[in-house]
Amino acid sequence: MSETKKLYYPDRAFSKKARIKNMCEYEDLMKWAKEDYEGYWGYWANEKIDWFEPYSKVLDESNAPFYKWFTGGKLNVSHQCIDRHLRLRKNKAAIIFEGDRGDKQTITYLELYRNVNRFANLLKNRFDVKKGDRIVLYMPMIPEAAYAMLACARIGAIHSVVFGGFSSEALRSRIIDAEAKVVITADGAFRKGKPYMLKPVVDTALEEGCECVEKVLVVQRNHEDIVWIEGRDYSYNELIALEDDECAPERMDSEDPLFLLYTSGSTGKPKGVQHSQAGYILWAQMTMEWTFDVKENDTYWCTADIGWITGHTYIVYGPLSMGATTVMFEGVPTYPDAGRAWKMIEEYKINQFYTAPTAIRVLHKTGEHEPEKYDLSSLKVLGTVGEPIDPPAWKWYYEKIGGRRCPIVDTWWQTETGGHMINPLPGATPIKPACATFPLPGIMAEVLKRDGTPVSAGEQGLLCITKPWPSMIRTIWQDPERFKKSYFGEIEKDGKPIYFSGDGAIVDEDGYITITGRVDDVINISGHRMGTAEIESAIKKHPHVAEVAVVGKPDPIKGESIFAYIVLKNADDTFGEEAELVKEINEVIAKEIGNIAKCDTIKIVPGLPKTRSGKVMRRILRAIAKGEEIKQDISTLEDPGVVAKIEACVKG
Ligand code: WTA
Repeated sequence: MSETKKLYYPDRAFSKKARIKNMCEYEDLMKWAKEDYEGYWGYWANEKIDWFEPYSKVLDESNAPFYKWFTGGKLNVSHQCIDRHLRLRKNKAAIIFEGDRGDKQTITYLELYRNVNRFANLLKNRFDVKKGDRIVLYMPMIPEAAYAMLACARIGAIHSVVFGGFSSEALRSRIIDAEAKVVITADGAFRKGKPYMLKPVVDTALEEGCECVEKVLVVQRNHEDIVWIEGRDYSYNELIALEDDECAPERMDSEDPLFLLYTSGSTGKPKGVQHSQAGYILWAQMTMEWTFDVKENDTYWCTADIGWITGHTYIVYGPLSMGATTVMFEGVPTYPDAGRAWKMIEEYKINQFYTAPTAIRVLHKTGEHEPEKYDLSSLKVLGTVGEPIDPPAWKWYYEKIGGRRCPIVDTWWQTETGGHMINPLPGATPIKPACATFPLPGIMAEVLKRDGTPVSAGEQGLLCITKPWPSMIRTIWQDPERFKKSYFGEIEKDGKPIYFSGDGAIVDEDGYITITGRVDDVINISGHRMGTAEIESAIKKHPHVAEVAVVGKPDPIKGESIFAYIVLKNADDTFGEEAELVKEINEVIAKEIGNIAKCDTIKIVPGLPKTRSGKVMRRILRAIAKGEEIKQDISTLEDPGVVAKIEACVKG
């Protein structure tokens, strides 16, 4: 039997102690959820959340798809993540931090409590931050980023973390969209042994159009020189010691927004995905417990950045809500060498390790034998997230990192889902390599055709969630219509709009779900989600560009790479070297979005393949980028001849 067809069964000793021990338990939970959906979720909400006041209704569907969960309930997420653990875990490590250059810090739950309270008091008393105000975080991976998120949660402010790799323009547009009152940043941080800067990016972002921002709080991390603007910029390091370490948690409604996180869609500018308090934290905690099966004395490490949803749910909110120890790492796993991650696993005796397939492929390629130098026997569960994992990467991860002992949980989910949706349970699910397997108990996922009917086994379809779930996106900030249209506008089941993820999937004859990737115009580079429309509108800012189309091209390391076709305004003009133009275009992208959106390939072409109604046929462009033969019927194009010309440009 080939490796990929084989089933990998959970270890019996592991299963015995796991939260979900076998597929019968899984089926029972699913049956319960199917028969009594509200009873099921109500049970878990009572069991897991330390309510200030109980909720009155589990699920309110009266204004679908604007679903409400646990209405009437009062809680505070920072209380759920910190205060309630103090009785039993005050001296337990909440966060273990390792800096890029090897500096280390352990923060206990009691210390976390004090740090978050001081931070909350600083925001509340000095910066006059009130419940419902928006705070943008532009932060490196340092403990203060987690304190800032939890401090916002404590006082009811809505945080919006912007990934530190985004440019000042991208930061500016997110600040404006959220109408943020305060920006929290750092002078800079360290990467690959060297300092890099963040505060100057904030300064540029605030130069115009951000009148909403009153104050900037700067954590001094790398102590490089920065410009301070009197009356606007404040030093966290100076102010924090002056604050009291007690701050009463705000009593929040279940449905008050907890945070916004901007993510790319298939059209237009990034969307401010809005998450709730109760539903989000409930599922963050439950999935943390079920997916990773973290035990009291375990050390868990997720390598994501807090600028993405994985960092929100599985570095900060998930681990802390369940009282676990979470590792936070400032650096990259390839510095000083490709053994860095394995060294950290040995040193901290990491039990659960969670990373992206791109990281696994890079570490495999750059340091195939590095893992052999370290003792990785503490590992119990390995996770992957963000993109499909290919069988060779899966095999290396399973054999060389997990020692053929650790189940790999391939977790499918999205910014919009708040937490895991489809993945194996480490003590229960027989795993098929590179397969997300089954929906978690309570999640109603189905692979459907456009008409809402199920696909047959082996046929590709659209991955939909047919019932609302607690941690789902509530709306797009300030744009409820776009929310409806983006997620509930395409597919109906039994006459009711249902959530469509934008992903394709296949269900096999055993009911296993394999994710095949996006079916819309979103591309996934190294597990990072980018909208082609966003990149195109950045490229159009170059004065010589008339038209542009961006597609994803399969890449052996990054999953996908960015491929741009460009039509110049005046093709007869010579703009110097083509290489020069390509460089300029990438500079425009870096300025408008950030380095992560730079194109790997830019081809100047005489025209784009368009239908008579003017729609660009991206499928053709994707096929050409891949070097595939064009199988589509091109006779309906406005100018069928353009296809051969584009092919010649790409090959030439
Ligand atoms: C993709 C990241 C295959 C998918 C948590 C989804 C995956 C998008 C997987 C969301 C997986 C995520 N296998 N593809 N295990 N996990 N994806 O919002 O295309 O940054 O729609 O959330 O990543 O990306 P986002």
